[in-house]
Amino acid sequence: MTQRTSFKKFLAQHLQGEHSIALSAMLGDIVNACKQIAIAIDSGALAGNMGSLGSENVQGEVQKALDVITNDIFIECNQRSGYVAGMVSEEMDSIIEVAKKYKQNGQYLLLFDPLDGSSNVNVNISVGTIFSILKSPNNKPELADFLQPGTAQVCAGYALYGTSTMLVLTTGNGVNGFTLDNESGEFYLTHANMQLVKDTEEFAINMSNYRFWEAPVQRYIDECLQGKDGKRKKDFNMRWVASMVAEVHRILVRGGVFMYPIDTKLQVKGGKLRLMYEANPMSFIVEQAGGVATTGMQRILEIIPTGLHQRVSVMMGSANEVDRLIAYHQN
Ligand code: AHG
Ligand code: MN
Ligand code: MN
Repeated sequence: MTQRTSFKKFLAQHLQGEHSIALSAMLGDIVNACKQIAIAIDSGALAGNMGSLGSENVQGEVQKALDVITNDIFIECNQRSGYVAGMVSEEMDSIIEVAKKYKQNGQYLLLFDPLDGSSNVNVNISVGTIFSILKSPNNKPELADFLQPGTAQVCAGYALYGTSTMLVLTTGNGVNGFTLDNESGEFYLTHANMQLVKDTEEFAINMSNYRFWEAPVQRYIDECLQGKDGKRKKDFNMRWVASMVAEVHRILVRGGVFMYPIDTKLQVKGGKLRLMYEANPMSFIVEQAGGVATTGMQRILEIIPTGLHQRVSVMMGSANEVDRLIAYHQN
């Protein structure tokens, strides 16, 4: 049997440059958090944590017990490396302070969505965790320090709790995927240098919002649905898991386009998905794999954030399809 490359070995071999020591420590903690989250999710109804809490998060969404449990795990695991100056979470109103004694080298910011797709937990469908790492200008970060564009990300990744638990990440030098070996508790490299194919016949969008979409998105989907009989001259397939992590992972593996566009219902909020916790990290990964990520009007990674919980229109995936969406928006 060929020698497997463990996550630790991969980091030792591949992390180079000014961030390597800090990233290797921080990613070690992130991996531990994701392993603990996988266990919490795995225990499912047996652990009694499948329900809703009745509380709402800062975004006005009903919190599941696991939203809070996974948030606590992520914070607990990631505050002691010495490198994290501050964190922000989709589930929390304001900055998560790191104790002074733990941030001697606090030069980085950690942003995360601890449980993505949480409406799927009690129906036993894949969920994930998304994270993004930024350089911190100081070790006592304030709100403004977090509001950096996605192009400034040093690292981004996600854990997918699916048929197997996987970790996929980029440090700006391609995208690599690792699978958790439950017996040893180690992640091993299984998806080296992931590349997103440029062409696809598969799209992912919540079709129930059709009547609220803007004209360019309706046009794009109309043409896909016309299939061989229409302008596109080929039939399209559709998938919608309602977990962005699962959706983006499928697209990285076999191509496709994922959309959660702005629509008239979402106008006031600016979109459904969150720039700092979802759109930016996933866009970084998608671009690093050769795909494109846009709001329709602008490259997502170039948006200058105005708020921690800002939402944006999202279209990402196979380059030729996303380029077509951009062209339709320009018309
Ligand atoms: P979260 O569970 O972190 O709130 O995110 C859910 C997001 C995303 O993962 C998914 O693509 C989308 O919401 C699903 O939305 P609909 O339920 O409107 O389809
Ligand atoms: Mn999410
Ligand atoms: Mn979430």
